[in-house]
Amino acid sequence: MSSRLALSRGFSTVLTWLSPRRRLVWLLGVAVLVVATATVLRAARQAPVSQPIAFNHLIHTRDLELGCEFCHKYVRSGAHSGLPDAENCSLCHRVQLGTSEEAAKLTKMINDGEPLQFNKLFRLADHVFYTHRRHVGIAKLECQNCHGAIADTEQPPTRPLVQITMNLCLDCHRKRELTVDCNACHR
Ligand code: HEC
Ligand code: HEC
Ligand code: HEC
Ligand code: HEC
Ligand code: HEC
Repeated sequence: MSSRLALSRGFSTVLTWLSPRRRLVWLLGVAVLVVATATVLRAARQAPVSQPIAFNHLIHTRDLELGCEFCHKYVRSGAHSGLPDAENCSLCHRVQLGTSEEAAKLTKMINDGEPLQFNKLFRLADHVFYTHRRHVGIAKLECQNCHGAIADTEQPPTRPLVQITMNLCLDCHRKRELTVDCNACHR
């Protein structure tokens, strides 16, 4: 007998011991548990993101005053902004800058011709249609609206600083009297 079969036999035996009223309470309890578990699993859906180099936004955006577009090339023109690769960094890091171990590791990677691939942090489900072109290129919205203070971080965040949910989109669209039509965002 498979363990699943044993489990379901056990389950029906327990049910026959109970009065119909108790049975209902019991089943409702199980239903609540299933929903609660699903909610917890959804929250944990996104595993922590790790990066090949401990990049420091603050040094590059505040001290060096590099614009976001320097590393996120398509943020005004594309659906996706894009992440930088070794070529972006090699402009300055072909030689050792400062004394940090991470900068040394980066310089070695660049000179060894090793590829540098950063991992995506913010992501939407495939059923949602979103473009940076529309929001940054045309509407000139601040990155902060949707990404929080990522430009001030000194370590790569392992989880999105802001959870981009349907409500985040809808709150702004309602405030500005823009579309809230399901088909505009879900295709
Ligand atoms: C315009 C030049 C420039 C570019 C382009 C650039 N960096 Fe830097 N980076 C610097 C300077 C300057 C420092 C500061 C060095 C110091 O004094 O410690 C630095 C520091 C760092 C450090 C050390 C951070 C720390 O906390 O000490 C890392 C890691 C780093 N950069 C990664 C990158 C990566 C990854 C890229 C490409 C995506 C990149 N940099 C692109 C100039 C640049
Ligand atoms: C010198 C390159 C560089 C510059 C300039 C830069 N970034 Fe980044 N950005 C990175 C790197 C590398 C990562 C991935 C590692 C990390 O998260 O720190 C990243 C990640 C991000 C992410 C998360 C992307 C994802 O995977 O979902 C956002 C959002 C972001 N940057 C916003 C900004 C904003 C806003 C600015 C301008 C104020 C900016 N960045 C300027 C290199 C840069
Ligand atoms: C209206 C909300 C909004 C604004 C404003 C916004 N973003 Fe994003 N960004 C998103 C969403 C949503 C994603 C995830 C997209 C996906 O997974 O399809 C994302 C993803 C990213 C990524 C991950 C890489 C990629 O290509 O998907 C980077 C980098 C990024 N944004 C940078 C920026 C920068 C820089 C700015 C400001 C110049 C900015 N974003 C403004 C909503 C926004
Ligand atoms: C802070 C405000 C803001 C947020 C947050 C925001 N939007 Fe928008 N959205 C705008 C603006 C402004 C426009 C109009 C741009 C223009 O002038 O074309 C727009 C336009 C759009 C359009 C085009 C609408 C049409 O009529 O074709 C789509 C699709 C869209 N947004 C999807 C999203 C999604 C998906 C999200 C969440 C991930 C989101 N938006 C979050 C401000 C926002
Ligand atoms: C302005 C953009 C926007 C509009 C308009 C919009 N949605 Fe969404 N919707 C989103 C985003 C963003 C998500 C979150 C996707 C994710 O978690 O990655 C989402 C998620 C969902 C989900 C999945 C929920 C889940 O748990 O993943 C459903 C179902 C949904 N939307 C239905 C609708 C319906 C029905 C309408 C019309 C009444 C609508 N949406 C209008 C942006 C939008």
